[in-house]
Amino acid sequence: MTGDPYAHLKDNAWRELAEIDGRLERGDIGEAGWHEQVATLVVPAYLAATTPWEQSGQSGSRSDWEYSRSLIADAIDRGGTFLDVGCANGFLMESIVRWTPFEVEPYGLEIAPELADLARHRLPARADRITVGNAVQWQPPQPFTHIRTNLDYVPRPRRRGLVEHLRANCDRLIVGVFNEHETEHTVEEELRSWGVEVAGRSVRSNRRKRGMEYRVLWIDAQ
Ligand SMILES: C[S@@+](CC[C@H](N)C(=O)[O-])C[C@H]1O[C@@H](n2cnc3c(N)ncnc32)[C@H](O)[C@@H]1O
Repeated sequence: MTGDPYAHLKDNAWRELAEIDGRLERGDIGEAGWHEQVATLVVPAYLAATTPWEQSGQSGSRSDWEYSRSLIADAIDRGGTFLDVGCANGFLMESIVRWTPFEVEPYGLEIAPELADLARHRLPARADRITVGNAVQWQPPQPFTHIRTNLDYVPRPRRRGLVEHLRANCDRLIVGVFNEHETEHTVEEELRSWGVEVAGRSVRSNRRKRGMEYRVLWIDAQ
């Protein structure tokens, strides 16, 4: 026993996510059901976590957080607004301000109301910039300089639409951090297959999983 009631979920999340994908493919659930079921894996685990990085889905130490996430700053090439899609407890919103030499104003969008509440509570000065919504449908009130997202925030058939929607609302769309094996480039190949040109990338080896890399890609406005 580790004492962590969610340890089995962290280990088996990929299996549970594949089952949720299967239910959507078979038509047992719709997209709203897909988001609800993914949230049942994510939200209780994040709310039960005791460190800000675990409340944002990163296990390990503070140094693991800094190492694995700070390459997002490599994608920032100017000052302006920065929207973190899937902001969880807002820790990345706070961190990005430290990591980039540019002056950025962080905003957050979060599908789970409980996590958006936690982010507002943690960042009271930025509470009015944290919104509840599903990124694929949300209509931004203004364009952003940078938007950051991950593709797995929506069911697979929606990913292209997510990229097109967010890209239309910013100067630069940042995808990642995601983990891939050093010999595979699945995310970049998928983007290319949609006719999307990757403008740049940043890579760091995963020091906890041999052969794996943390990656960030960015795409500029058309
Ligand atoms: C792994 S956390 C990311 C935390 C932080 N942004 C980071 O990159 O470290 C992913 C968050 O995205 C949220 N999320 C997932 N799908 C979403 C969607 N379609 N729209 C908005 N938020 C979403 C989840 O609820 C979760 O809090």
